[in-house]
Formats: sequence, structure tokens, C-alpha cells
Amino acid sequence: MMFRVEKCFCLILFISAASVYGDDYKVKSISKKQFGWGHSPYWDVKTQTLYFVDIYGGSVNSYKPATKKLFSAKIVHGPHATTSLIIPYEGMENKFVVGVNSSVANLTWDGMSSTASNPAVIAELTENKTLHSHTGKADPMGRLWIGTIAQFYKNSSGGAQIPLNQGAEYMISGTGKVIKRIPDITAPEGLVWSLNKTLMYFANCYEGKIQLYDYDNESGDISNKRVIFDGPKMNVGGLPAGMAMDTEGKIWVAQFTNGTVIRIDPDSGKVLRTLKLPAEQVTNLAFGGKNLDVLYVTTSQLNKGYIPLTKYAGRVYAITGLMSSDSDDYKVTSISKKNFFWGQSPFWDVKTQTLYFADIYGGTVNSYKPSIRRLCSAKIVPARSAKSQGTVSAIIPYEGIENKFVIGVNNSVANLTWDGMSCTASKPAVIAELTPNKTQHTHFGKADPMGRLWIGTIGQLYKNGTGGLAIPLNQGAQYMLSATGKVMKKISNITSPEGLVWSRNKTLMYFANLFEDAIELYDYDNESGDISFKRVVFNGAKMNIRGVPAGMAMDTEGKIWVSQVTNGTVIRVDPDSGKVLRTLKLPTEQLTSLVFGGKNLDVLYVTSSQLDKAYTPLSKYAGRVFAVTGLTSSSGKPIVGYPGQRIVRI
Ligand SMILES: *[C@@H]1O[C@H](CO)[C@@H](O)[C@H](O)[C@H]1NC(C)=O
Ligand SMILES: *[C@@H]1O[C@H](CO)[C@@H](O)[C@H](O)[C@H]1NC(C)=O
Ligand SMILES: *[C@@H]1O[C@H](CO)[C@@H](O)[C@H](O)[C@H]1NC(C)=O
Ligand SMILES: *[C@@H]1O[C@H](CO)[C@@H](O)[C@H](O)[C@H]1NC(C)=O
Ligand SMILES: *[C@@H]1O[C@H](CO)[C@@H](O)[C@H](O)[C@H]1NC(C)=O
Ligand SMILES: *[C@@H]1O[C@H](CO)[C@@H](O)[C@H](O)[C@H]1NC(C)=O
Ligand SMILES: *[C@@H]1O[C@H](CO)[C@@H](O)[C@H](O)[C@H]1NC(C)=O
Ligand SMILES: *[C@@H]1O[C@H](CO)[C@@H](O)[C@H](O)[C@H]1NC(C)=O
Ligand SMILES: *[C@@H]1O[C@H](CO)[C@@H](O)[C@H](O)[C@H]1NC(C)=O
Ligand SMILES: *[C@@H]1O[C@H](CO)[C@@H](O)[C@H](O)[C@H]1NC(C)=O
Ligand SMILES: *[C@@H]1O[C@H](CO)[C@@H](O)[C@H](O)[C@H]1NC(C)=O
Ligand SMILES: *[C@@H]1O[C@H](CO)[C@@H](O)[C@H](O)[C@H]1NC(C)=O
Repeated sequence: MMFRVEKCFCLILFISAASVYGDDYKVKSISKKQFGWGHSPYWDVKTQTLYFVDIYGGSVNSYKPATKKLFSAKIVHGPHATTSLIIPYEGMENKFVVGVNSSVANLTWDGMSSTASNPAVIAELTENKTLHSHTGKADPMGRLWIGTIAQFYKNSSGGAQIPLNQGAEYMISGTGKVIKRIPDITAPEGLVWSLNKTLMYFANCYEGKIQLYDYDNESGDISNKRVIFDGPKMNVGGLPAGMAMDTEGKIWVAQFTNGTVIRIDPDSGKVLRTLKLPAEQVTNLAFGGKNLDVLYVTTSQLNKGYIPLTKYAGRVYAITGLMSSDSDDYKVTSISKKNFFWGQSPFWDVKTQTLYFADIYGGTVNSYKPSIRRLCSAKIVPARSAKSQGTVSAIIPYEGIENKFVIGVNNSVANLTWDGMSCTASKPAVIAELTPNKTQHTHFGKADPMGRLWIGTIGQLYKNGTGGLAIPLNQGAQYMLSATGKVMKKISNITSPEGLVWSRNKTLMYFANLFEDAIELYDYDNESGDISFKRVVFNGAKMNIRGVPAGMAMDTEGKIWVSQVTNGTVIRVDPDSGKVLRTLKLPTEQLTSLVFGGKNLDVLYVTSSQLDKAYTPLSKYAGRVFAVTGLTSSSGKPIVGYPGQRIVRI
């Protein structure tokens, strides 16, 4: 007779395709009911139902999110019977395997009635009746794994204590044979199998460890035990209990007594993320919901009477809004300690492996070669002072011409010859004035996919009544220089025109309208450079996102990285949904622009400013240029972006 419970694929599918970062997950209890010892949540895809047990309550429970209905049935198995898990049989309706007392049994239940069939015992796990079955799971073959644990007792000071090393982890073979797989365990808890079915992870709760075994899917044999996570040693609060794997192969762990769920990388053992719950005794968890993107978490109130428990103890929780976040281990370093006044328009040149950028009020163009860590600045106009109002706003090399650049200077676009190393450069040779209004100056600039220059203008910043910075409204514009050198105003009536990126297929243009806190999208004609059909794809204020969008850079996944001025953050935005996928923190607030660079185009260079220096206290990091490294996408692959596009012709 084949003993076979439903395969647990559904236990290890999870987070849908989302690859998003955000701390905006939500924790909600599915009902106000407090269970004594909620455990072993199981999400049934077929019936879209969450099943779980209350161990000391001796009940099995079901919850259908669609109807928000919770049902409980007490198991009839003598007084004070315990239940440890409930898993449906594959292909049979209303038929489950349950753990009751020290045995495994069949149960027939419609999932709604307050009574179920008497459990029909299949196998006794242990002769010792003071032990009872504990949590478990079906392995990738559909075989049941289930643990045993001794009874908690009250110690001399009234706390719950458990006899040590009395439990074990068992596997029920295909022929119904009980095989002890891991002996002498105090509290056997979570189990997960690697997606390729060659590894098994086991939570040794009492020791605070997650153990890894080689796993043979045919036989269910395990071997070669090693420890991949040691909570107490790593100073991670709580003890690992239930576990669930997500589609990225990362493991979510219920940290018993700590009120947390952590996500760990099973390869490194590192904690990637920590979620907080309002109950401390977090026992177990399972992904569920229509998209398998809800994390259902059971909790207990085992130590009731000994420690004060709140009304949240013992509830079952649904955590939603979880987005993948693996690499929080990106690094931010400044390329030098130099504080620029108003860094802007970073450009990564693949040919020379050099980062170029302008300091608008500093009046310089700058180059930085990471290979030799050399930063060079050449003065183009005198730095900002009462006497000088000169500005330099962008620097982009010409395609195919050495040491020749287009720059923005004052209200004009000009040619510049510079070797990228000297402190001096040629005098700028003006190509075109963008506006006759000399109080305006050029701002951020970039070449489009055709190699034409796009560059904005803005009014002069001034000090307002309280000494803060203000900018004349709607005085600026976004210009394009045609291949014949004609200045074409593309977007008028803009306070502060900022970042530009084009879709890879060259049909769309994204434009950061800083003052409106918006990213605008235009249809873009690559031949003519015409733009049309403006719509807003991102509105920070509406979405309650602090800071305002300035610079933009696109990665090879088509996502847009945006430097948020005034918030010290760089966000990664999905241009289709407008959603923020990720937030990076930098040590200064006024992040003006950014570009991908480095040999592999996996370094994000970010410029900043110290514009509000006299008004708000700025740190020693204000105005530095930063290199963000170690950025990886949810799949673990490095984030790679695009370099700057050189100017082809003006
Ligand atoms: C199950 O365990 C409880 C608690 O130990 C006990 O009272 C009950 O009699 C047991 N049931 C059966 C059928 O052995
Ligand atoms: C338990 O249910 C399975 C599947 O229906 C069946 O094959 C097996 O005989 C049952 N065992 C007992 C003890 O009822
Ligand atoms: C049965 O388990 C209890 C702990 O629950 C332990 O103290 C006792 O020694 C065990 N009895 C036998 C015969 O192993
Ligand atoms: C009793 O158990 C509690 C935990 O439930 C523990 O904090 C306490 O130290 C224990 N006391 C003794 C005397 O062992
Ligand atoms: C199975 O996946 C794990 C990672 O989850 C990996 O370390 C291991 O090499 C893979 N084994 C095989 C045979 O592919
Ligand atoms: C969880 O563990 C962390 C780290 O040890 C600790 O700072 C925190 O206070 C703990 N929380 C609870 C509720 O015990
Ligand atoms: C700027 O440089 C380009 C490319 O070398 C050249 O075609 C153009 O004539 C120059 N314009 C000025 C004003 O020097
Ligand atoms: C020139 O720009 C400034 C803002 O920088 C504005 O106040 C002024 O009205 C503009 N002058 C003309 C003639 O448009
Ligand atoms: C002046 O500008 C600062 C920002 O730079 C702003 O916080 C403040 O509210 C402004 N004050 C007035 C009177 O407009
Ligand atoms: C310029 O834009 C502002 C707000 O974006 C709007 O209120 C104003 O009417 C616009 N002016 C013109 C001339 O389009
Ligand atoms: C170009 O790419 C965008 C996404 O970046 C897509 O929405 C659009 O349909 C594509 N256009 C064409 C013509 O392929
Ligand atoms: C950035 O915004 C977040 C909220 O969106 C806020 O908590 C944080 O303090 C802000 N940081 C700075 C440097 O303004």
C-alpha cells in the first residue's frame, strides 16, 4: 500500500515573479482568535485553503481567504489529545493525514464542520506515550516527514520547559514504514528541500541551528549533515522553527520567541531580511494565497501565565506586500573626499573607462578613472561667488574624436578640448545659445540614442525670505540640438528639467520633472527626435515617496534608477507600473544624478550637491561623488546598466 500525501510543490513555490524591495509589507491577523499553539500551516492550492493545527488545543483548522472564514474541528482522540499537522492527500477530497498524539492518522473532514472523522491511526512514531508528534511536511516525493517532541512542563520558576533530546525526526516510507531519520532532537521543526531535490534543510530549534543534509529523492535517505545557520552564534534573536522556501531558493524562518520572521540565504547563512510580528512565539509559516505571495504565520502562547502575552499572541497572521530584496549588501563609497558644490551630469565613457561629470556652481569639468583612482578637475569658469555667476553643467565626449567634448556653459552649449587630466582645458567654443536670457543657465545634459544632445535650462537659484534656496518657477526648458546644430525647444515651462532615459527599442523617452515630483513618458521618434503624447508614469508625492526625482539611468532589465533629491535615496522604479522596486540609502541628501559605469557597467556612480549648505546643516558627505557596488537583482545576478552615449554630431 503506497502511503502518499500531496506533494509539497505548493509549499515551495512562492513569491511570484516580483523582484522588488520595500519595507512596506503588511502584517494582519486572519482573525482575532488566539490559538494555544498554532503550528504547521499548509496552503492547499487546489481548494485555496490554509490548514493548520493547534497542537495543545487538539484541533485542525481551515481558513479560506476568499471568504475570510475560519473553521475549527476538535480531534476526537481521548482527553487532551494533541494534533501536530494536517496535510491533504493528493487526489482525494476531504482526506488528510494528521499527526495526533504520538501517531500519524487518516482524517476525513469537509474543512468546515466542527467535527471530523475519528482519526484512523496509520503508524505509531514512538512507543513512549509521553512524547507526541510535532510538525512535519511532505517531501518532494510526497512522503511524510514528521517529528516527535516531549511534553512541556512547568519548571520551578513557572516557565515552560522541555525535556532535552527526547524527540526525533521520522520519515514514513512509501510502504508506510516509520524510519527514524534524525535521532535525539529536542525540538524538530521546519523542513525544506532545495528546488532541485538534492538537499534538505532542517531546523534544530532548541540548538538554534539550521542543518543541511544531502537528500536522495528516490529513497529519502539523508547524509552529510552540516550546519548552515547558527542563530545564537550569529547573534540573531530567537530560535529557528518553521521554514518555507521562496522561488529564489531563499529560506524564510519563523524565529520562535523573537517575534520575527527572517529570510536567509542558505548558501551563506546570512540574514537577508527581518520581518516583525506583534507576537513573540512565532512557530511556523507557509506561502499561500492566489499568487503564493502571502506568508501565513502561526504563533503560540505557550508561556502564558509566565510571561505577559498580548492579545496578539497565538493568532495566525498573513503577511502581504513582501517583495524580494536579497542584496541589501550593496556598498556605497565616495570616489574621493572632495565635496563638489553641485555635481551633475555624470557620464561613463566606455572607451576611456572614465567617469566625467560637471560641478555646476564649481565651474569645473571633472574626470575620474577608477582603475587608477585618479580624480582630475579643470576649471572652465570661476567658481560661483558674488562676482561670478558662471556655470558648467554637463560634459559629454564626442564619438570618434579624442579629447573633444560638448559641455553646457552658462546659457550655452560649447565645444571643449581637454585631455581629461590637466587642470586647464581649451576655452569653450560656443556652438549655440539655448536662451537669450542670461540669468538662466544650462542644466543636466545627455545624448539620445542618435547621439544628439538634450540639455535643459533653469533659472538661477536664489535665497528666499528665510534664507533657504528657491528657484524661479517654470522658467526652464528642455532642448534638443539637431544634427545640424539647430536648437529645438522640446519641453517648455519647466522649473527644473532633469534626468532623461530612452527605452532600449528607442521608441520611448522618460523625463524627470523634478519640481512636479514626476517622471514623464513620451513617445519618441528616433529619426527626428520628436516627442509626443506625454503621460506621467511616476508621481512621488501621490505615492508618498520622499524626495523628488532628478537623475535617471536605465539597467539592462529595463528598470529605471532615480536619484531622489532631498531624500538621500536612489530608487529603482518599474517604468511600466511606476512602482518602486528598491530603495538605496546614501549618506547625503541632495543626490543630483547617476550613471552606470565601471568595467562591467555594474557600478552606479551618483553625484550630489551641497546647494542648501547655509540653510540646512549638511554632513561632510554632501557634494561627494559616490560609487554604489554590489547591486544584484532578485535572481542574484549583478545589476548592469548602460553607459553614456557619446555625442555623434552637433
Ligand atoms: C492522547 O494523549 C492525551 C494526552 O496525553 C491522552 O489523554 C489521550 O488519552 C491520548 N489518546 C489516545 C487515544 O491515546
Ligand atoms: C489512510 O488513507 C489512505 C489513502 O486513502 C489509505 O490507503 C490507507 O489505507 C488509510 N489507512 C488507514 C489506517 O485508514
Ligand atoms: C519517555 O519520554 C520522556 C520525556 O518525555 C523521558 O523522560 C522518558 O525517559 C522516556 N521513556 C523512555 C522509556 O524512554
Ligand atoms: C524556567 O523556564 C523559563 C522559560 O520558559 C526560563 O526563562 C527560566 O530560566 C527557567 N527557570 C529555571 C529555574 O530553570
Ligand atoms: C541543487 O541546488 C543547490 C542550491 O540550492 C546547489 O548547491 C546544488 O549544487 C544543486 N545540485 C545539483 C545536482 O544541481
Ligand atoms: C529579537 O532579537 C533581537 C536581536 O537579538 C533583539 O534585539 C530583540 O529585542 C528581540 N525581540 C524580541 C521581541 O525578543
Ligand atoms: C564643435 O566641434 C564639432 C566636432 O569637432 C565641430 O563639427 C564644430 O564645428 C565645432 N563647433 C564649434 C563652434 O567649434
Ligand atoms: C529671465 O529669467 C529669469 C529667471 O531666471 C526671469 O525671472 C526673467 O523674467 C527672465 N527674463 C525674461 C526677459 O524672460
Ligand atoms: C525657503 O526655502 C526653503 C527650502 O530651501 C523652504 O524650506 C522654506 O519653506 C522657504 N521659505 C519661504 C519663506 O518660502
Ligand atoms: C506652466 O506650468 C504651470 C504648472 O506646471 C501651469 O500652472 C502654467 O499654466 C503653465 N504655463 C504655461 C504658459 O503653459
Ligand atoms: C518598446 O519598449 C517598450 C518597453 O520598454 C514597450 O512598451 C514598447 O511596446 C516597445 N515598442 C516597440 C515598438 O517594440
Ligand atoms: C527619506 O524619506 C523617508 C520616508 O519616505 C524618511 O523616513 C527619511 O527620513 C527620509 N530621509 C531623508 C534623509 O530625508
